[in-house]
Amino acid sequence: MAKKKKTPYDSHHEPRIFPKGFLWGTATSSYQVEGGNKNSDWWKWEKEEGKVSDGTRSGNGVDHYNRYKEDFDIAQDRLHNNSHRLSLEWSRLEPNEGEWDEREFDHYRAVLMDLKKRNMTVMLTIHHFTNPQWLFEKGGWEKRYVIKRYLRFVEKVTAELGEYVDLWCTINEPMVYMLQGYVFVEWPPQKKSKIAAARVLWNMSRAHRGAYKIIHRWAKRNDRKAMVGIANNVSSYAVYRKHSFFDNIMTSIMDRATNHLFYMLSGSKTHDYLGLNYYFHFRIKSASSFLRSAFGKPVDEMAEATFESSDIGWELFPHGIFDICVDLASYKKPIYITENGLATSNDDKRIRVIVGYLLQVFYAIESGADVRGYFHWSLLDNFEWAKGFEPTFGLVEVDRATMKRTPRPSSEVYGLIAKGNKIEHDFLQFLGHGTTGILEEWKSKNAK
Ligand code: BGC
Repeated sequence: MAKKKKTPYDSHHEPRIFPKGFLWGTATSSYQVEGGNKNSDWWKWEKEEGKVSDGTRSGNGVDHYNRYKEDFDIAQDRLHNNSHRLSLEWSRLEPNEGEWDEREFDHYRAVLMDLKKRNMTVMLTIHHFTNPQWLFEKGGWEKRYVIKRYLRFVEKVTAELGEYVDLWCTINEPMVYMLQGYVFVEWPPQKKSKIAAARVLWNMSRAHRGAYKIIHRWAKRNDRKAMVGIANNVSSYAVYRKHSFFDNIMTSIMDRATNHLFYMLSGSKTHDYLGLNYYFHFRIKSASSFLRSAFGKPVDEMAEATFESSDIGWELFPHGIFDICVDLASYKKPIYITENGLATSNDDKRIRVIVGYLLQVFYAIESGADVRGYFHWSLLDNFEWAKGFEPTFGLVEVDRATMKRTPRPSSEVYGLIAKGNKIEHDFLQFLGHGTTGILEEWKSKNAK
């Protein structure tokens, strides 16, 4: 029998070391943190009573528009991040159709230059859920027209800002955008229509393909390297009853329909990397509910409720990120975890879950998945769409009355992992409950 290759975790007391050059970052999106995005379709929509469940409005956001330097200081000094993922607000840059606001391009140029000055790898998302209001009024992503408008925007963005970008994310979560707006109807335009939903997804796939070409053409002309992809919302699935034929079939359908569909539609050749946003684990039970409504949730709600979840009820299942990475490794492309995190008011839990997720990412790499970076969602507490500001996803707490930033202990743990490019063996203690004191003990042991 061949001798088993020794891996760093053969010894219990070795740290889990990530590959050299691994990207450590956080992710944000413009609308959720900047504030004052008055020309966006979300701005108008959220004003209506009852749209945002906790009654808040995005308003001044967390004033990242003005405080980005302070925030990047935290990302650099406390989180020891070597990269950052952020998005552009299209409605700022093209407030009226065909009219560019050059001052806003200057703003984003300054933001991106600031990151570059810090030697950070920049991942730029071009579209993260929000649209200019003028586009929304013309029918938004449902109309073919959007593709031309989006591609004209991409041309302008590459010309103006391309030199500061390393990784391009053309569209954030096309599947979620389609489902939330046209199937579950929780987000604008709240239009329940399967035909419209199909059109939206198709148009997004065409827009992505077009953007892929534009960015690569621009890169070639300017003698630069470009890595282009999307951020895909992926879910891990478990068959609820292993013996059930229908549960097995349904699990496979759900996996294809959510995790792989956009790659099939847009062609996997138009993805230089796979960007994965991982939050969800589902236990699939029974075909019947699915067959009744094409996008119903064939999920065992009781089982879901039984497991530990975040403040907004999403099951926390660190092993799922391993399964997803290993499954998608079959595309033979670099993988970036473009988002992963949890809404919680319990920072001990955030620490435990982050260490849990990262450990599974490490094991996925050891098992052959080419994972090259991890962007935690999110740097700051922010506007969680139709749920408002109540869910707190931030490594950094923001008091919205004073806009004061207070880094949570989780930011220190994440920062130490990023700094060392490894999970210390002692940090595995965070996987237990009641983690108070572990960090202090480690720090005093390691104080020089
Ligand atoms: C989105 C973010 C969102 C996060 C947490 C992702 O689906 O890209 O905008 O805030 O999940 O819900």
